[in-house]
Amino acid sequence: MQLGERDPVTGKYTTGHDWNGIKELDNRVPRVVTFFLLGTILWSIVYWVLMPAWPLGVSYTKGLLGIDQRQTLETAVARGVSQRAAWSEDIERLDFDAIRQDPALMQIVRESGSTLFGDNCAVCHGTDAKGSPGFPSLVGNAWLWGGDAEIIAETLRIGINSGHPESRYAQMPAFGRDGILDRPAISSIVSFIRNNAEGIDDLGPLDTKGVEEGSRLFADNCAACHGANGRGDPAMGVPDLMDDSWVTGSDRETLIRTISQGRQGHMPHWEGRLSEIDRKILALYVTEIAREQAEGGNER
Ligand code: HEC
Ligand code: HEC
Repeated sequence: MQLGERDPVTGKYTTGHDWNGIKELDNRVPRVVTFFLLGTILWSIVYWVLMPAWPLGVSYTKGLLGIDQRQTLETAVARGVSQRAAWSEDIERLDFDAIRQDPALMQIVRESGSTLFGDNCAVCHGTDAKGSPGFPSLVGNAWLWGGDAEIIAETLRIGINSGHPESRYAQMPAFGRDGILDRPAISSIVSFIRNNAEGIDDLGPLDTKGVEEGSRLFADNCAACHGANGRGDPAMGVPDLMDDSWVTGSDRETLIRTISQGRQGHMPHWEGRLSEIDRKILALYVTEIAREQAEGGNER
């Protein structure tokens, strides 16, 4: 094999390289490739001239267009801050009803509320705010302390059993563990609740035995907090036991456990961790998704 060898088929020169008997024709680089290469070189020169490009020790070539990304960013941040200042001042000044009347503000409430909720609340209350055993749903009509935005904002500020000096405080006593009621008595009360509540988890059979006894025991032991009709008391954070909404659950096992061992949920306080404006946005956001859920729920 030598340089300048001709290919017998095409009559063209080969490059002289030989890969296991395969030889390469010495063709020109296709023109389109050359053009493309020249084009990119030309483009880079134009770009160097127009845009910031070469480092010069402490500075750099600024380019004819004078584009400065740091400044672009700073302007964008400044614009964001001034826009936020405009609406956050409104949210701070206006009361909940006035904010609800303002569609532009409510749009902001929905957007930043959703982010704030995802970042701070979803771990416990769920991304859909429907809660899970031990963590109450925030989208039903059932509330421990009440579903008005003012009440929710206050719950957010001080928390529940939270260690905040003004914290809301609520405790369900441990009737079994503390020896106030024995197992058959608790069982009768559970039968009474499960036979009278509107909606119960359909885990386990209904038990009509002991309902009357349970009713009497309920009046003696539970009515002081949960009310004679079991409807609860939002002023003390005591839940309604006759509705279809449960923090822990309404199957027999869970009810027996709750009544035997008691319960004290911990809702963190957010004063000092979320600004007053963020808490106000969240309170509105929660009432808003609760309302949307209630309206959507009717269609189903
Ligand atoms: C560490 C878990 C946890 C986090 C995080 C949390 N919560 Fe709670 N929250 C709870 C628990 C538990 C309760 C119920 C307390 C009880 O049983 O007394 C509760 C109760 C509430 C209540 C009262 C509900 C009612 O029925 O009155 C509201 C409102 C609430 N949370 C909103 C929020 C919002 C908004 C956030 C985010 C800023 C949040 N929570 C973050 C655990 C949490
Ligand atoms: C001192 C007031 C008090 C008394 C008395 C009391 N409870 Fe409660 N109960 C509460 C409070 C407060 C809660 C909510 C606790 C929490 O979520 O942190 C609660 C929660 C419950 C729950 C859980 C509800 C749910 O949604 O999961 C059940 C069930 C319950 N109580 C049943 C009873 C029964 C039955 C009695 C009587 C044997 C009774 N309670 C007596 C204050 C009381």
